[in-house]
Amino acid sequence: MSKQQNLLSTAGKINAIEFKLQYRPEPLMTKTAFTVREMREADLPICLEFTQQVKWPHRMGDWQLHFSQGNGSIIENAEGDIVGCILWWDYSQQLATVGLVVVPEHMQGNGLGRKLMDTVMSQTGERNLQLVATVAGKRLYQQCGFEEAALIYQVQGQLAGTVAPLSSDASIQALDTNNLADIIALDVAAYGCSRASLLTAVAQQGKGLVAYRDGKAVGYAMLRTSGHGQTLGPVLADDDDTAKALISQLLTSETGFIRFDLTERAKAIQPWLESLGLAQVDEVSLMVKGEFVPAGGTGAKIYSLISQAFG
Ligand SMILES: CC(C)(COP(=O)(O)OP(=O)(O)OC[C@H]1O[C@@H](n2cnc3c(N)ncnc32)[C@H](O)[C@@H]1OP(=O)(O)O)[C@@H](O)C(=O)NCCC(=O)NCCS
Repeated sequence: MSKQQNLLSTAGKINAIEFKLQYRPEPLMTKTAFTVREMREADLPICLEFTQQVKWPHRMGDWQLHFSQGNGSIIENAEGDIVGCILWWDYSQQLATVGLVVVPEHMQGNGLGRKLMDTVMSQTGERNLQLVATVAGKRLYQQCGFEEAALIYQVQGQLAGTVAPLSSDASIQALDTNNLADIIALDVAAYGCSRASLLTAVAQQGKGLVAYRDGKAVGYAMLRTSGHGQTLGPVLADDDDTAKALISQLLTSETGFIRFDLTERAKAIQPWLESLGLAQVDEVSLMVKGEFVPAGGTGAKIYSLISQAFG
């Protein structure tokens, strides 16, 4: 091809691109009416289908737990088909978490995710907001004013064998209705606000342990059936040895698939978890709009989340 022919062909391609840009089909949003309404229990099978489509491991029990503790919205098209969902959890006048934000693939890029986020941001008012963002969601959240505050490490796998129970200088007791108030108080100190209703609901779904030193609760951990197997979270402890003692004693009679959503605080115990067969499979961002509420302080620290959505 001569230089001139080459130039003509390039010009043709540029014209074609310009034509495409000029005559790009309008986003669905301007042509179709979408409405947001409150999520109902009857919507959960479709919401579950959405999370399965994006390969999240939630089962119906996980959806029911998140729904029962939260405020959900769904978005419908003009035909009444559900085309997106979102939930938020109200922990205090200062803090809410947001999660389970899904728009099915064929509807993405039409502003539905933004509409769902706008709904939640108007419902949550002045509260600081937290969420754990997937790569797909990060840009949307940045546009909504969220900033990355920390990293969360998804660690999971089949237990390699029987977990040897470890001990620390704390004494460990089974979690039951008598010491539930102790863990709720400990959680308030570490998390910055009360998650009493949520912790009570999670405790009812599985089993837990509480660590005491000098008669004072210094850590706790819970294990429940969820996703591909069981989820170990929350885990709070005032040192690594106590965290390992709680985790190992909860796992000692377990086999099968275990998942953790670890905070940066848990980095030091990750090699030990790996020796149990639990490897890091993802690293995601904890994003915050407003102030980052978890107080820190000198008490117990959060090692593992309840779930990415709950925090
Ligand atoms: C994240 C998600 C909810 C966004 O929904 P959506 O309806 O496609 O988002 P919107 O159309 O409202 O887009 C909002 C903004 O984010 C941008 N955006 C959305 N998805 C994007 C992507 N994958 N890559 C880059 N930008 C993206 C859009 O371009 C838009 O920006 P603009 O206004 O400048 O054009 C959707 O992609 C989804 O469900 N993904 C799978 C599940 C998931 O990861 N959810 C997030 C959990 S934290």
